[in-house]
Amino acid sequence: MDVAEALRERCTCRAFLPRAVSVELLERLLETANRAPSGGNTQPWHLYVLTGKHLQALTEAVIKHFGSGTMSPLEYKVYPSKGDLPDDLHKAYMSRRIKVAQDMWDLMGVQREDQAARAKALVENFRFWGAPVGMVVTVDRGGDKNAWGHTGMFLQSLALLAVQYGLATAMLEAWGNLGSCVYDTLNIAMDREVVWCGVALGYADPGSKLSTMPTERRPLGELCRFQGFEKSKL
Ligand SMILES: Cc1cc2nc3c(=O)[nH]c(=O)nc-3n(C[C@H](O)[C@H](O)[C@H](O)COP(=O)(O)O)c2cc1C
Repeated sequence: MDVAEALRERCTCRAFLPRAVSVELLERLLETANRAPSGGNTQPWHLYVLTGKHLQALTEAVIKHFGSGTMSPLEYKVYPSKGDLPDDLHKAYMSRRIKVAQDMWDLMGVQREDQAARAKALVENFRFWGAPVGMVVTVDRGGDKNAWGHTGMFLQSLALLAVQYGLATAMLEAWGNLGSCVYDTLNIAMDREVVWCGVALGYADPGSKLSTMPTERRPLGELCRFQGFEKSKL
């Protein structure tokens, strides 16, 4: 498999087989992904990698916290609010977010106006969508925005390598902003690290459309401005 193939094949997997991932494969995957670059080679990411009863304990703690309805103070904004962006951009973000959520709910048989069913769908994130391996990714708290970008380099490397090894992933920002619950359960020093996201990892369930839900991308002309290329049509 070449890199372009892995890029095209990778997608967010929301249905996994109950098949274990060997620790040898997992270590190979993580060691290779850890070759990801970072500004100044600072490597600001940390991973808490769980399976079996440890994964179950974390999931149970988070579902209990979520079910209690306790509103945790936001550690950071996951999405910009109206007013943070020019109106046209905010509208574009919203329409993309709604599209991906709607496509997902359609596959799950969830009606948009059914709040209880939507909450149940959200809880699937805390079950890592049934994956046998769940990871919590943190960034050094004192790091600036750049550190989050560097961590993104690591995460995409991980996702592409997973494809090469026949595995599937889902990045899950639903794991952020859950108050002290994740920190306490995993014994993460809250003054040093900030929880960014979860990662589900395992073998995709080929029998579920949730394992390969297609998504669109903006055309190149919307994101690139080419200069000095005589033959560019954009
Ligand atoms: C950092 C990050 C966090 C994400 N968090 C979630 C999440 O909490 N729940 C979810 O269902 N999908 C989540 N996604 C998946 C995105 O919706 C998905 O990447 C996007 O719609 C493009 O689809 P694709 O990954 O299948 O190409 C996340 C993706 C990224 C990169």
